[in-house]
Amino acid sequence: MQKPIRILKKINYFWKRSQVPAKGLVKISTIDKLIIFLICIVISIISSYKILLVQTLEVSDVFSWGFTFAEVLFSCGLLILISRKENPNINARQILLIISLLLIVQMIKNIYGSSLSPLSIIVPPALIISQGMGTITALAWISIASLSWPESITNINNNLLFITLICACVVSVLGGKIRSRAQLLQLSIFVPIGALISQWILIGNEEYSLIDNQALFELNGKIFSDSLLLAIIMLIIILFIPIFESIFGLLTKARLMELADKEKPLIRRLSIEAPGTFEHTLLICGLAEEATRMIGGDIDLIKTGSLYHDVGKLHAPNWFIENQDGAKNPHDEIDDPLKSAEILQAHVDQGLKFARKNRLPKPIANFIPEHQGTLKMGYFLNKAEEKKLKFNESDFRYKGPIPQSKETAILMLADGCEAALRAMDINASDYEALETLSKIFDSRQVDGQLNDSNLSKGEIFLIKKSFLNVWKRIRHRRIQYPTTKNNTFS
Ligand SMILES: [Fe+2]
Ligand SMILES: [Fe+2]
Repeated sequence: MQKPIRILKKINYFWKRSQVPAKGLVKISTIDKLIIFLICIVISIISSYKILLVQTLEVSDVFSWGFTFAEVLFSCGLLILISRKENPNINARQILLIISLLLIVQMIKNIYGSSLSPLSIIVPPALIISQGMGTITALAWISIASLSWPESITNINNNLLFITLICACVVSVLGGKIRSRAQLLQLSIFVPIGALISQWILIGNEEYSLIDNQALFELNGKIFSDSLLLAIIMLIIILFIPIFESIFGLLTKARLMELADKEKPLIRRLSIEAPGTFEHTLLICGLAEEATRMIGGDIDLIKTGSLYHDVGKLHAPNWFIENQDGAKNPHDEIDDPLKSAEILQAHVDQGLKFARKNRLPKPIANFIPEHQGTLKMGYFLNKAEEKKLKFNESDFRYKGPIPQSKETAILMLADGCEAALRAMDINASDYEALETLSKIFDSRQVDGQLNDSNLSKGEIFLIKKSFLNVWKRIRHRRIQYPTTKNNTFS
């Protein structure tokens, strides 16, 4: 009896783990929910109404209509759930985009029926969704779009449907990984070529001539025209992806890479006005990237997020120790721990303002408050205690929230360990370095800062190990190579 209970408890544990970080889900307003629901209803009606358009309506037809209507509505709900699960930060606009694309596709199916190739209907939206919302959401979208046809699909060649499904899956999987616009262009050329060859082999070439002169839209099964139309639509979509990014706040890999460019004005300002913070940022990037690679997280996201995490220090660079360069510390001059704590908190608030001004996507802006979480400002808290000031402990804590994702939690840990690793004695052993790291990691865990991050114990260990590896690399670089008179260049 105890064994099944233990198994049930384990299943419950894994289910709960899989639900974190549920707290990070973006709230959707009632109006947005209503609009999304109405669009889902319209999609269900469009997808099912043709069942009722028979000369003699029977009860079985009404049942069949009701079943199809409910099936499509349920599928839409499932699609939204999957998209929210894959992207906890997804907002109403992005859900609207996914649902609207489904609505447009169902309308096109109704208008053009089987005269327009399913390749051109289903593959291009899959590219937008995989780029902006990820592979799993795109695959879920494809399964609904290819299963639900308002008309009977007997007019459409089975092989063509199969090829469409394969092409859409390839676009979804690669689209979620592609990191540059150039690779996107390659995809928009190679997928249509692949579709052309597969149609040539599977559908046969005896019926059709390879080059068809008729209008593109009126053709069905004309394989060259189908593939050409697919290539044209995909190229147009690639041109429009930057517009989709800004309208719907999509965070594509290419956008992340562009934001990580060190020539971006905000990063350039950081390197000129707060060189110490910039150096700290670069080291943190190295630590966080290595740790994220080790646990299989989103490397591009953390790389870009780390670059922007302390941009708020631009509002007053010399109030932060790394930029003081031996000069007087203004905190000593004001000698007011409460004011100093406010200035520290301001680097988060101002950072969020910079993020809004520079239109940084939300997942990047999240790194700004979450890297500090609700950490204690220990130095100034001690000072306030020494001075016997009246205060609440919350006055000396950042306002949070605590890290809501693995990536922001890694950044918090890297931020805490960076100074300690930099200050470590060059002759320190690996054991000593690991002990220092463990102390910082433990303090964050005991303080509850990692509670919402979904990091497992094993992952925390791997992060620690990867920080140690980075430190070993830094130590190796700092060791002076012996030089001789004859050999000073090697
Ligand atoms: Fe910070
Ligand atoms: Fe920092």
